[in-house]
Amino acid sequence: MDAVLSVKDLNVVFSGFKALSGVNLDVYEGEIVTIIGPNGAGKSTL
Ligand SMILES: Nc1ncnc2c1ncn2[C@@H]1O[C@H](COP(=O)(O)OP(=O)(O)OP(=O)(O)O)[C@@H](O)[C@H]1O
Ligand SMILES: [Mg+2]
Repeated sequence: MDAVLSVKDLNVVFSGFKALSGVNLDVYEGEIVTIIGPNGAGKSTL
């Protein structure tokens, strides 16, 4: 089954600051996925 949301090797850099590096994520139909992490981990950026 194909993922309904697929993220591959996502990198986000803010003025030279690496907020996200090499993020991979697959979400399949019917799944509930939560993103957890400490303040500044990059949840909102993702
Ligand atoms: N527009 C921006 N410009 C520069 N740096 C940013 C920007 N947005 C986020 N950052 C930085 O990127 C990192 C990730 O931020 P982000 O807001 O994604 O974290 P978060 O996990 O959502 O944090 P919180 O739990 O506080 O909501 C932090 O170091 C933040 O300071
Ligand atoms: Mg946030």
